[in-house]
Amino acid sequence: VRHLLGIKEITPQDIQLIFETADNFKDVLNRPIKKVPSLRDITIANVFFENSTRTRLSFELAEKRLSADVINFSSSGSSVKKGETLLDTVNNILAMKVDMIVMRHSSPGAPHFLSKHIPANIVNAGDGTHEHPTQALLDSFSIRERLGEVAGKKVVIIGDILHSRVALSNIFALQKQGAEVMVCGPMTLLPKYIQQLGVKVETNVRKALEWCDVANVLRIQLERQQMKYFPSLREYTLYYGIDKKLLDSLNKEIVLMHPGPINRGVELSSDAADSHHSIILNQVENGVAIRMAVLFLLAQKG
Ligand code: CP
Repeated sequence: VRHLLGIKEITPQDIQLIFETADNFKDVLNRPIKKVPSLRDITIANVFFENSTRTRLSFELAEKRLSADVINFSSSGSSVKKGETLLDTVNNILAMKVDMIVMRHSSPGAPHFLSKHIPANIVNAGDGTHEHPTQALLDSFSIRERLGEVAGKKVVIIGDILHSRVALSNIFALQKQGAEVMVCGPMTLLPKYIQQLGVKVETNVRKALEWCDVANVLRIQLERQQMKYFPSLREYTLYYGIDKKLLDSLNKEIVLMHPGPINRGVELSSDAADSHHSIILNQVENGVAIRMAVLFLLAQKG
């Protein structure tokens, strides 16, 4: 595999290899000297056509910990604003002797398109509503770290499934590792094809939480909504918002996850997000080791 375009394209064995490699890098990241020389001859461009905090910073840090040379491109403030195409933009970056492209783009399939036209390795850092493979990998890695394994675990993904690349990549990743997957949200925020993905569907958040070992909570992606969806944010919070009182009333331990950014007070209350159930900041920490593993393994393939 020369690229990481999506979880759909990789095997359960690839996922295990990424996790074992990330285990080693996590050990490195816990040492006083966190840097290794593995990618010192490699130059990586982080090419972001959409906003990001976690993914962009964690890729950059992963690259620097691997001793790669790093350049960062953000479409705002670039010549994209003067009409330059995606392919011209990337080809101009590659002309500067760049070996790998990490790209976030608002169009589903943008990295797949690029992979057919450029000679460099490509890592998809999120393509529109399609996939966010490194997020799903770090999510499963965090479940494995907390619960010992992913196989056999019941994982519910709650929220705006329709507009979420995190949901689709997580469904593929969890199923490939033998987890049971449920999605939960209002029918208006579930895609029509959801049944074809082999997941359970639940519209009642309490029932979903009673069923699961792990709840991965997503935000409502207002920026991707072409029309006004029911429910409104206020209604969403009323019917689907998760607070500590609800978690405590379950009388069992569940693992609470969120890919970020959290809209506190909408999908999660602060007392839930910051409770002992939450592994949200562990997810962020693990993102660096997972991205080091992905970049390191792709660099071996050339
Ligand atoms: N989880 C995630 O993709 O966050 P950012 O949009 O901040 O990168």
